[in-house]
Amino acid sequence: MNINVDWDKHFEEMASHEFTVVDDFLPRELYEHVLSQFDQYKENDLLEPAGIGSLTTYQINENVRTDEIVWLDRNNCSTEIANYFRFIQEELIPMLNRNLFLSIKDFEFMLAYYPPGGFYKKHLDQFKDRNNRLLSMVIYMNDNWQKGDGGELEIFTNEEPSQSIRVEPIGNRLVLFNSATVWHQVLPAHKGRKSITGWLLKMPQGLGFLG
Ligand code: OGA
Ligand code: NI
Repeated sequence: MNINVDWDKHFEEMASHEFTVVDDFLPRELYEHVLSQFDQYKENDLLEPAGIGSLTTYQINENVRTDEIVWLDRNNCSTEIANYFRFIQEELIPMLNRNLFLSIKDFEFMLAYYPPGGFYKKHLDQFKDRNNRLLSMVIYMNDNWQKGDGGELEIFTNEEPSQSIRVEPIGNRLVLFNSATVWHQVLPAHKGRKSITGWLLKMPQGLGFLG
């Protein structure tokens, strides 16, 4: 864990606003390794149009989202991705469980690429028939992202009246938020936009639990 991050501040933000933004999140070397893996997946054409809905209602709808994704399989992945999973499992999850009083049991991650023009309309990260996601986390991998490149994550706050906050998808920035309650959207990107995006889960995957 990056020792320069003031986690107490981020835990307080999670408690009061249900989201927080953490810069320089991953240890530098791990970040570089995940980014190089992303570029390899992309070069090998392994990302595919993402769908919406869960297993039973899954569909591709280009009016809602136009990103391309690949799910990462912890049982069949490169050393770099295995190191990433180890970091999530051994460092991040215990820290979040302790400080946010959660009981995260599992996780799922994908690589996501928004091509120029790509967007994802306003949504929650939980579907009606699927409520296993506790926290959403997106780590951006866009070095040299400039103002005007678009692709901001717009988060609608839980205040009354709701306000919106735009987060630029700059390299090694983490956005963490409650999956069930925080409405958000991805504004059109003007350049290719990369992230490793995932969910921290209430129940282990594949226990017959819907989700
Ligand atoms: C998602 C999502 C946000 C982002 O994949 O569900 O909302 O900033 N991503 O990429
Ligand atoms: Ni989302």
